[in-house]
Amino acid sequence: MTNRHTGPTVVERSRPLTIQHAKELQHYGTVSRLPIALDASVCHASVDNLNQLLADTITLRDMYKKHHWQVSGPTFYQLHLLFDKHFNEQGQLVDAIAERIQLLGGVSIAMAHDVAEMTLIPRPPRGREEVPVQLSRLLHAHEIVLKEARAMARQAAEAGDDGTNDLLVSDVIRTNELQVWFIGEHLVDTPLVGHE
Ligand SMILES: [Fe+2]
Repeated sequence: MTNRHTGPTVVERSRPLTIQHAKELQHYGTVSRLPIALDASVCHASVDNLNQLLADTITLRDMYKKHHWQVSGPTFYQLHLLFDKHFNEQGQLVDAIAERIQLLGGVSIAMAHDVAEMTLIPRPPRGREEVPVQLSRLLHAHEIVLKEARAMARQAAEAGDDGTNDLLVSDVIRTNELQVWFIGEHLVDTPLVGHE
């Protein structure tokens, strides 16, 4: 409501301005130059690689939460906790990868729709699966991430993008390798009580 003498009333001015639209600040797929002493082509290549890795890391992170919720059987409690620990660690990687994309001048993917379109990790069923299937599905996803992360790390090192190489080697590769060990040891077929 507008007061004829004083403009918008106090009540009107304090109302939140909802449903606003404007042009995007930066389109996906473009790189905005930042003064970090790296060529635009190098930033572009790293951003493209990191967005693929981001889609796969978000998918792996969410697969851990799915299994955290849906796990069953005699090892329920330890796997319920382990899956959530790995979920949180993958969540930290997601943030580190996305923020590196932004600091390289790129635009990180974020939403589930984009992740689903991009990820290389096969889609699991919505229903619950047995523990051995959950575990082997996680190992397969880890291997996809490790394979691409190693290739991307070499490419970043050759291009002189040491920061991306360090993130990939020190954080992504090492974390995934360690998680593979923790998951993989559950799939070694050893006797539970008496020796064979
Ligand atoms: Fe939980």
